[in-house]
Amino acid sequence: MADSHEVQRRDFVNIVLVGIGSVIGLIIGIPAVAYLLSPAVKIKVEEAWIPLGPLDVYPLDDPTLFSYTRTKINGWEKTVNSYGAYVWRYGEGQSEVKVYSNRCTHLSCRVTWTEETSIYFCPCHDGRFNKEGEVVAGPPPEPLFEFETKVEEGVLSIKHLEV
Ligand code: FES
Repeated sequence: MADSHEVQRRDFVNIVLVGIGSVIGLIIGIPAVAYLLSPAVKIKVEEAWIPLGPLDVYPLDDPTLFSYTRTKINGWEKTVNSYGAYVWRYGEGQSEVKVYSNRCTHLSCRVTWTEETSIYFCPCHDGRFNKEGEVVAGPPPEPLFEFETKVEEGVLSIKHLEV
């Protein structure tokens, strides 16, 4: 028959062992969980200069589509997205160029430049933008996104932003 001192000693040892086990578990567990979750919760804005080739290959006053892809890694997910940009040279100077995204600002359908009407047309809900990217009809709430551009050694590049 155990006396009350033995019972108290056994309880004390159990409490100490559980306490030490818990501390060791937290020391190992918290960094491990943080390491596993951190790529999934990181939100960052990526920007990159995308070269679109020599500026002078783009025709004057005729918006021309340039397509490109970007690979995005979000945690363990890897996706390849395609993008389009309309290059509009409105003059012969190196700074006389504007580049618009071909993504409609309503629900992101792709717009198409139509020479006959001088309109970027969105087929999803009949959205229309003029050559300057401004909304002229339909539900789009904003003009087409205009990329920041630069021309170095005759090569046109746009600043691609991605969240
Ligand atoms: S997505 Fe372009 S008008 Fe709706």
